[in-house]
Amino acid sequence: MTETDQSVARKRIKRVQIPDLAALKKNGGRIAMVTVYNYSSALMADAAGVDVALVGDSISMMELGYKTVLPVTLDEMIHHVRAVSRGLQHALLLADMPFGSYQSGPEQAMGAAVRLLKEGGAQSVKLEGGRSVAPTVKRLVESGIPVMGHLGLTPQSVHQLGGHRAQAQDDASAEKLLEDALALQQAGVWGIVLEMIPAELGRRASDALQIPVIGIGAGPFCDGQVQVWHDLLGIVPGKKYRHVKQYACLGEEAVSALRRYTADVHDGNFHTEDDRTQR
Ligand code: KIV
Repeated sequence: MTETDQSVARKRIKRVQIPDLAALKKNGGRIAMVTVYNYSSALMADAAGVDVALVGDSISMMELGYKTVLPVTLDEMIHHVRAVSRGLQHALLLADMPFGSYQSGPEQAMGAAVRLLKEGGAQSVKLEGGRSVAPTVKRLVESGIPVMGHLGLTPQSVHQLGGHRAQAQDDASAEKLLEDALALQQAGVWGIVLEMIPAELGRRASDALQIPVIGIGAGPFCDGQVQVWHDLLGIVPGKKYRHVKQYACLGEEAVSALRRYTADVHDGNFHTEDDRTQR
């Protein structure tokens, strides 16, 4: 598919649906996914033509100020998914199932996923884990709920992994990841996020699977990329990661603008001439 074919195909898509993403994989197109946590960001992501907006459980750290993804609750996730839903008309709305909302098994997962779709307006949910969550994935998918998988660095297991660190660094764990990915595909996921794994393994997984593989710190060969909003746009000044391509420095811009505003107010220079003469 040429670049022009791809942009024409994308323009024809009104609301992105799961089959559109499957078609992109089939035709060699790439999928752009970004985390979105609120209404105004949803408007911006849509205006930019992003394909998938993920209300990630990284909201726990990025917007709620926690150290890990563990504390964010299902109610908090739904609150943000609803806000994002009100802002989106184009991108597919994908919601993370937060820690503790599916680990007890398929029935618990059903309850949480139904709430994310029904109350939040999500089109799909994402959950972490390999073979052990396959029965849960199957239950959701058989009920008509599209599910995305997440392997590699799975932040909900941060304490078991010993931190947010790169995964599948040796042959045995690389093979295990591939088997997990195949098991998830077999259980019915429409796509898989691979986080912080070697680029070669990202390539092998993308080649081996018929479903889209979206990478974050998983090299350039995946079927798409996902980035965290704050990292991509440089919201938190000074934070730099190897896997992040930063496209803007919005944090610094915002601080500078707020500094000028504060100085203007303090110095009595805030009002414009129009304001001063306004009756
Ligand atoms: O919550 C999140 O930000 C994610 C991405 C890292 C894929 O799950």
